[in-house]
Amino acid sequence: MISIQLSERVKNLPPYLFAAIDGMKRKAISKGVDLIDLSIGDPDIPTPKHIVDAMKRAVENPVHHRYPSYEGMLSYREAVAGWYGRRFNVSLDSQTEVLSLIGSKEGIGHIPLAFVNPGDVVLVPSPGYPVYPVGTSFAGGESYIMPLTEKNDFIPDLKAIPDDKLRKAKLMFINYPNNPTSSIATAGFYEEVISLAKKHKIIICHDAAYSEVYYDNEKPLSFLEIEGAKDVGIEFHSLSKTYNMTGWRIGFAVGNRDVLAGLGKIKTNLDSGVFQAIQEASITALNTDDSTLSGIRNIYQERRDVLYNGLRSLGFQVVKPRATFYLWAKVPSGFDSQRFVAHLLEKTGILTTPGNGFGSPGEGYVRFALTVSVDRIKEAVERIKASFVFRFIAFFPFAPFSSFLSSGLPTYLWLLGISFTFLYPSMYLLNFSMNSSSPSIFTIYDYSVTAKNDY
Ligand SMILES: Cc1ncc(COP(=O)(O)O)c(C=O)c1O
Repeated sequence: MISIQLSERVKNLPPYLFAAIDGMKRKAISKGVDLIDLSIGDPDIPTPKHIVDAMKRAVENPVHHRYPSYEGMLSYREAVAGWYGRRFNVSLDSQTEVLSLIGSKEGIGHIPLAFVNPGDVVLVPSPGYPVYPVGTSFAGGESYIMPLTEKNDFIPDLKAIPDDKLRKAKLMFINYPNNPTSSIATAGFYEEVISLAKKHKIIICHDAAYSEVYYDNEKPLSFLEIEGAKDVGIEFHSLSKTYNMTGWRIGFAVGNRDVLAGLGKIKTNLDSGVFQAIQEASITALNTDDSTLSGIRNIYQERRDVLYNGLRSLGFQVVKPRATFYLWAKVPSGFDSQRFVAHLLEKTGILTTPGNGFGSPGEGYVRFALTVSVDRIKEAVERIKASFVFRFIAFFPFAPFSSFLSSGLPTYLWLLGISFTFLYPSMYLLNFSMNSSSPSIFTIYDYSVTAKNDY
């Protein structure tokens, strides 16, 4: 048996966040935990029936059983161009300005191979989708992190990028609506990006995977709506989140024809396109009338409201999402992101994603995904609440009960009031400032709850 050695590029990979979360999830399930999984952005709602029916018909057609074309069927690219025209009022040449992808992750991961030489810089938002820095490092590039902070509405401060990095930069990734922060970008920001790109000859890759998951009828912009965008970049899109088609693996890139041709060269050498039956079903998807999509959005909006209000009522500092199906919340003081996620899983059976898994600027945050039913979200809020209430009960019997015996009901009620006014908030704070690895009276009490509920 030869000794198998991984390449340096694989050895240097950080652990893939979602694989690690999957491990935590499997362990919890094997212990019998009734898990509420709010960790991964994989819609629980099925693909709409008319799309599934179109797939069934297409799969019967032997024409689709052969190798597909590399760039995607022309009819699929025409459907993409048609959708862009209707949704964003952007006109695209379906022959040269649209490229099919095996999910947008595939295109995002591959694009640095087309344009980045070893030592070149790629400007990467953080917290952000982990594939941006990983694709960059596979191409031998160096990621320069553009931190997304609450102070800046999670929009990168382009003026803070040092000149030497701008000189070496070949590519910039941006992503709005943003995963994980749920922020959306303004036309003004895109204008700044375009002028920076023109000045420093940087290719812009805008990841718009969540453009159709928005709230309160506030439609996010396409980068390509902005004057000059097509001169400097492309936009990645996905059918995954829009039509609940994560398992189908189909997306597309649109915009600058030279950039698409470069990406296409990598793809022709590495993959053979998307199964044509899936492209056929996707044509049906792209022509779906808006009532289907607004139905999906309404489901997420109800979930968003329940979780946002619930977490707020428990004292969490949460950003109210205007788009995406994520809530980005600050972890309570005394915790770091990872400890809080482990603590929440252990005490309540709720799985979330630690903010630092999206890059170090995400430290101190946790991401909740709205990918379970509204009833389960309500239950999640109740479980978090109950984990405080149990602590309250642990303290509760001492004073009020003895006073009830000696001084009667008025004193009892008075002490009850005092308990609610002072004890509950202080235990609430203690709970959240408690480091999960340091036992206290509260942790001891919690373990009895743990045993009972098998969390
Ligand atoms: C920001 C972002 N971009 C792209 C993707 C990739 O989606 P897909 O490959 O399913 O199109 C994801 C998936 O979670 C994402 O969160």
